Amino acid sequence: MTELLQIGGITDRMKDRLSTAFDIRQLDDFDAARITHVVTNGHDGVPPDLMAQLTNLKMISVYGVGYDAVDATAAAARGVVVTHTPNVLNNEVATTAVLLMLACYRELVRDHEYVRSGRWETEGNAPLTRSADNQKVGILGLGRIGQAIADKLTPWSPEISYHTRSPKDVPYRYFDNLVDMAKHVDMLICITPGGPSTNKLVNAEVMRALGAGGTLINVSRGSVVDEAALIEALQSGELGWAGLDVFEDEPRVSQALRELPNVVLLPHAGSATVETRAAMGDLTVDNLLQHLKDGSVLTAVPECKDL
Ligand code: NAP
Ligand code: 8YV
Repeated sequence: MTELLQIGGITDRMKDRLSTAFDIRQLDDFDAARITHVVTNGHDGVPPDLMAQLTNLKMISVYGVGYDAVDATAAAARGVVVTHTPNVLNNEVATTAVLLMLACYRELVRDHEYVRSGRWETEGNAPLTRSADNQKVGILGLGRIGQAIADKLTPWSPEISYHTRSPKDVPYRYFDNLVDMAKHVDMLICITPGGPSTNKLVNAEVMRALGAGGTLINVSRGSVVDEAALIEALQSGELGWAGLDVFEDEPRVSQALRELPNVVLLPHAGSATVETRAAMGDLTVDNLLQHLKDGSVLTAVPECKDL
């Protein structure tokens, strides 16, 4: 039977389907020369030293759309095809971005604690919050999920701008400079890929430009935001609020960030619903089964499209 190396967790349904076609090997029990296929996720990826050991590798299937933890260029150069799970999670991650936005603007966590602790009864009404309606929203990365976020924001009547490396055919204002966009907007939503080209793109200057009345939402990768600068800006009040699903060194989240009152924190749960993870798992497995059947795949990453 063809040997598949499993890196990270998979669901029971994925395991059942994969077991019909593959001998699933674990990281503590595999023969590198026999592994032709790998299933992994966006967080664990495939470490370069492991990839080098897998001399007969043909395919890597990533359970997630972001694949910054896999060197897809190196894989393509070796003829190894990498697949991921685009589109099936667009709406879920967009919902997560809107959830963080609303939680920040309407102080969901603060007011939940206000009721729970009994302070409403002893201290009277909670302080007022901010309306999420009619805000100027800047989207950093207007791809599949960025567009889904723009669509989902419609009921709040935003004025949308975006920053990407190249302008898109969309009815929103394009900024070729991120600092200029941050100066213009009330809220910045990050939804680019991770990796070197976006590393700490949201730096101290961008946060200063967003300002004391500004809100930063990050549902992309922790690496996209300079986390030390973010903590300083939130502590000093140079930046108003942050809603974060992703972190520099997750699942470790800095104590300073955890203690701030003006943040809402999620455990990288952007796509983490039963329904969406089932769709992602199905596509992850479909890619592997298809490759085993005839060498083709359904959703190759751009670097591997021509293999
Ligand atoms: P996508 O369709 O490829 O869109 C990526 C967008 O980012 C494009 O508009 C691209 O435009 C822009 N971009 C890329 N590099 C950039 C740079 N250096 N500067 C500015 N803009 C840049 O990807 P997607 O499917 O929307 O997914 C986006 C990312 O979301 C994933 O890669 C993943 O990291 C993250 N994600 C997070 C979660 C979560 O659970 N929180 C879930 C799913 C995905 P240009 O090429 O023109 O620059
Ligand atoms: C996953 C994600 O949780 O798809 C992505 O890029 O960040 C999330 O949907 C992650 O890939 C871990 O599997």
